[in-house]
Amino acid sequence: AQQQVSIDLNTNDAKHVISKHIYGHFAEHLGRCIYDGFWVDPALNVPKKDRIRLDIVDALKKINIPNLRWPGGCFADEYHWRDGIGPRAQRPKMVNTNWGGVVEDNSFGTHEFLELCGLLGAEPYIAGNVGSGTVEEMAKWVEYLNFDGVSPLANLRKENGKAEPWKVSFWGVGNENWGCGGNMTAEFYADQYRRYATYARNYPGAPLKKIAGGANSWDTNWTDVLMKKIPLNEMWGISLHYYTIPTGNWTTKGSSTDFGEAQYFSTLKNGLAMDSLVRAHSAIMDKYDPTKKVALVVDEWGIWTDVIPGTNPGFLYQQNSMRDAVIAGSTLNIFNNHSDRVKVASLAQTVNVLQALILTEKEKMLLTPTYHVFDLFKVHMEAKQIPLKFSSPGYKVGNETVPAINASASIDAKGAVHITLVNVDAKQKISINTALNGLKWSKVTGRIVTSAKFTDHNSFDNPNKITARTFTGAKKSGNQLVAELPPLSVVELELK
Ligand code: AHR
Repeated sequence: AQQQVSIDLNTNDAKHVISKHIYGHFAEHLGRCIYDGFWVDPALNVPKKDRIRLDIVDALKKINIPNLRWPGGCFADEYHWRDGIGPRAQRPKMVNTNWGGVVEDNSFGTHEFLELCGLLGAEPYIAGNVGSGTVEEMAKWVEYLNFDGVSPLANLRKENGKAEPWKVSFWGVGNENWGCGGNMTAEFYADQYRRYATYARNYPGAPLKKIAGGANSWDTNWTDVLMKKIPLNEMWGISLHYYTIPTGNWTTKGSSTDFGEAQYFSTLKNGLAMDSLVRAHSAIMDKYDPTKKVALVVDEWGIWTDVIPGTNPGFLYQQNSMRDAVIAGSTLNIFNNHSDRVKVASLAQTVNVLQALILTEKEKMLLTPTYHVFDLFKVHMEAKQIPLKFSSPGYKVGNETVPAINASASIDAKGAVHITLVNVDAKQKISINTALNGLKWSKVTGRIVTSAKFTDHNSFDNPNKITARTFTGAKKSGNQLVAELPPLSVVELELK
């Protein structure tokens, strides 16, 4: 029998603004994300500004990319920013110890990254080095970036061709300091944070949003210690990293394109756990910060599979299938529904690494199913979240069940309501019936990302197999919205 879901939505319940920064991205000096991704060989025959690839820039502008996190990741705690400024020919070449032991030639540094952010119209989110850097080094980077006056670092920036400061705002005080960022205890890191953050100054007109390096997935003790030991007014946010491993096992994570329904299902279970994870960390934060002044910043998330066979294991290059689209849509719905606490998030990573939006092969470029999901969801940016009430039927595989449907909704400044829905069920279509209270509307339009198989993906030979298409399966019936969601689908509806 056809599954039915009744959803209750009342626009008068809309309260929290969905921060556009939930839709942020991450670009590390890892594999082919920066080098041979954003930043290409001068001889490559693609549109470029300097060595920045403009077809990538254009694609990201279309989804209104709000911010870009850089230079890592693990790379950040071994990055010394002075290596990446000044004449390129004189910048040191060194080894990227974290990612494949390849040569890092430092041709992409501070100026190049901020030029890229300018082209994208995205806010920079820089992660400073705590693990192997010094307080002075971080303090001087901030001065170089943000001080508009006379000082040795502001003068050096001017000598390097940038008269005005960039006024960078999002500032990560280290990354994964429980692991690659220094193997610290939570107590030790909290004290380090206080020192580093003291000297990362707020220059006139350039206040920093300082973000503490947060927990690894379920380590709620890390969050607890940071919330307890760091004065809340010295920390704008606290981060959280969580990756969806298809098998749940870091040694054999599973293939990005070759998997069956059991592994599709375990990926879903692991991906949907983001909801409980955000709840768990938010509950700890609520104890110390009931008015939610400190943001939860999920600045690394996404599916992490085994690499494509034959590629450098340190490059983390994987394909992106309809399964990735389902996880992306579900995760973004989760973030929207926690918009009271989650204010920034960054998918890992933008180009050619992990759950990428964009894959490239020499001159060729393709947009992944995940990219198209971000395109659907951009309507929620800075709109007010509307809580939804419904009970989802289950999607059952073996003896286990997950909710087949997840959704979120918002109302924008012009009064248009947007609902995004994901049907994770690989076989069943599901009808929804929505009671809309508080809203006068006359018309529904929609877009959909779907494909017959969860392993379907875009290849360089067939780059548009999965894209965002017009959705015609929704209609108005009285004041009810009625829609039929195909299996494996991510749908965005607009009601006006
Ligand atoms: O995104 C890849 C890596 O995953 C990042 O460098 C690190 O922060 C995390 O462990």
